[in-house]
Amino acid sequence: MTLLVTGGAGFIGANFVLDWLAASDETVINLDKLTYAGNPETLASLQGDARHQLVQGDIGDAALVSRLLAEHRPRAVINFAAESHVDRSIHGPGEFIETNIVGTFRLLEAVRGYWADLPEADKTAFRFLHVSTDEVYGSLAKDDPAFAETHRYEPNSPYSASKAASDHLVRAWHHTYGLPVLTTNCSNNYGPYHFPEKLIPLMIVNALAGKPLPVYGDGMQVRDWLYVKDHCSAIRTVLAGGRLGETYNVGGWNEKPNIEIVQTVCKLLDELRPKAGGSYASQITYVTDRPGHDRRYAIDARKLEAELGWKPAETFETGIRKTVEWYLANPDWVAHVQSGAYREWVQKQYSAS
Ligand code: NAD
Ligand code: DAU
Repeated sequence: MTLLVTGGAGFIGANFVLDWLAASDETVINLDKLTYAGNPETLASLQGDARHQLVQGDIGDAALVSRLLAEHRPRAVINFAAESHVDRSIHGPGEFIETNIVGTFRLLEAVRGYWADLPEADKTAFRFLHVSTDEVYGSLAKDDPAFAETHRYEPNSPYSASKAASDHLVRAWHHTYGLPVLTTNCSNNYGPYHFPEKLIPLMIVNALAGKPLPVYGDGMQVRDWLYVKDHCSAIRTVLAGGRLGETYNVGGWNEKPNIEIVQTVCKLLDELRPKAGGSYASQITYVTDRPGHDRRYAIDARKLEAELGWKPAETFETGIRKTVEWYLANPDWVAHVQSGAYREWVQKQYSAS
């Protein structure tokens, strides 16, 4: 048995592959374009492991995807591949349209061709699982109920609009062609191997480097945080038991304002890596807000919990401590991702603040 995972050298995809192969002997073919966000070093522990093959390539390359499908005959495709950073989508939306929309379309078409010719039993068992985000639902007011699967799509950034479009394509390929799809819409992830352009790893890395901790606007935007390994367990659960054509919201019931997240990171660093002369919190700096910044996300994960019995293993307190400890223990991984391209991004994004 084989899985085709796309984007499996990125943050969530790589955590998924590592967790999958820690518990199963099912082979993983890992198709990743290795953009700035894809990092083979994250998968270094799988070097020489016959159960894992990393293929550098684009989900939009139909010939390549069709060849991989024909050669490896996977029982499922799990699509993590995407451009994922909201701020980058504001500076340059083109890549988001290309990968998240056109790429997903081409991937769906290649998979449809493969799936249509499978023997009946394999066809019935096949799954295409699309990994998506809560950002497709837009922004909540302070007292609104959390996003349920029935919430209407109201994406506000080029990133979330491109993910919303991809969700619609996946849905249409099920309704029109019968492709056996599943979609998950998850809240903000955090944990090991998170690229330090995103809030939590950026704060850890900047704090340790003695740099400002840039908080957008008033810092009171709310996100709903889930430890990445809990997202991975939710994906395994939906893959195993999700109803075809359904979407499942994934979240940890951990709504927190950004400033509280940053303060928590500072407190943990004060404890685990105290610095001379006071708290890391003194590095907190309020900067210009993100254009069109969504105020609040919150996920209602009751469908996944009630139908499939999924529960997160970590609380925010246990997960964030593990995360900070991981960054402290892995300075080499951090140093290697802080390449020239990373430095250019930080300069572009934060120089005016
Ligand atoms: P990431 O940016 O860390 O990784 C994305 C990976 O996709 C990278 O390895 C990159 O090289 C690869 N990739 C990009 N374009 C590609 C292409 N055209 N073909 C093949 N590979 C390509 O992203 P992430 O945070 O790991 O997110 C993974 C998925 O989960 C995305 O679809 C994202 O929308 C979704 N998601 C992320 C979060 C989060 O908090 N990070 C939450 C919910 C959903
Ligand atoms: O909700 C799920 C989404 O979470 C995923 O779909 C995205 O791929 C993922 O990047 C993430 O999007 P966010 O925009 O919520 O994550 P980010 O880490 O960029 O920002 C989290 C919050 O922190 C957000 O309100 C913006 C704020 N922020 C971010 C950065 C990078 C700051 O205040 N300062 C910063 O420097």
